[in-house]
Amino acid sequence: MTELSLAGQRIFITGSGSGIGETTARKIVACGGRVAIMDLRDDLAQDVAQSLGHDNAMAFGGDVCDEAVIEKILHAMSEKWGGIDGVVNNVGIYDHGPLLDLTLPQWRRVFETNLMAPIAVSCAAVRRMRDGGCVVNVSSVLGEVAAPERGPYCVSKAALISLTKMQAIEWAKLKVRVNAIAPGYILNQAVQDMIDTNRLDPSDIERRTPMGRMGSEEEIAEGICFLLDPVKASFMTGELLSVNGGWTAYGFT
Ligand SMILES: NC(=O)c1ccc[n+]([C@@H]2O[C@H](COP(=O)([O-])OP(=O)(O)OC[C@H]3O[C@@H](n4cnc5c(N)ncnc54)[C@H](O)[C@@H]3O)[C@@H](O)[C@H]2O)c1
Repeated sequence: MTELSLAGQRIFITGSGSGIGETTARKIVACGGRVAIMDLRDDLAQDVAQSLGHDNAMAFGGDVCDEAVIEKILHAMSEKWGGIDGVVNNVGIYDHGPLLDLTLPQWRRVFETNLMAPIAVSCAAVRRMRDGGCVVNVSSVLGEVAAPERGPYCVSKAALISLTKMQAIEWAKLKVRVNAIAPGYILNQAVQDMIDTNRLDPSDIERRTPMGRMGSEEEIAEGICFLLDPVKASFMTGELLSVNGGWTAYGFT
């Protein structure tokens, strides 16, 4: 079995200054690709790009919802690398609360970032893909099932799965493959922050997960890189790759 190969692939990853996006960027470069790193935190994006080496990575600060920033990044990829082969829509935010308490502005903010931004970023990127390419949308296990008081997150992540199918069927003729990945609970800084502020009890998650543990960022990065690999995933489009330790297969509460 040969290793994953992303040799020559030029990939844009949103929210890659830390977390799953950063870990994915590191794996893409390890597999021979180049990455455009972007993050709200310009300092984090610069640090990641610097550690990956300036032949392999470019860094940009900015908000994924800002179309001017996206254009600037895609333009820079064309100027420096001659184009783009793939995009990973990784940024995701949440705003929790009971449905009857959440305001429409709260819903809109989450939808702008988790759904409208991936729509805009994907379209801008695919318009520039000259010889086919690939989109990976980072959804969530909470896009597959509902969880109490997580309305905007669950519904936006479910819509991202639907968007993935829509993009896949329309863009197949452009030789662009589009897939989604749905991570289960991943023990990274974002989840650790929820644990530390008593918004999540890790033992609840471990009990509910057949494999009895949370996942790692590396396990999600591996899935994203598989979906990006033009050889290994060559006939795969419109699919959801669930990486959740058996969460969605489990029938008991
Ligand atoms: N961590 C988990 O357990 C988990 C589980 C399922 C799905 N996911 C999904 O995986 C993706 C990555 O999750 P994570 O835990 O690594 O995220 P995270 O919260 O650690 O954020 C990653 C990066 O995104 C940046 N970011 C946030 N908003 C941004 C914006 N508007 N524009 C640009 N950058 C922005 C942050 O600064 C941060 O550096 C998200 O879509 C998330 O919903 C995560």
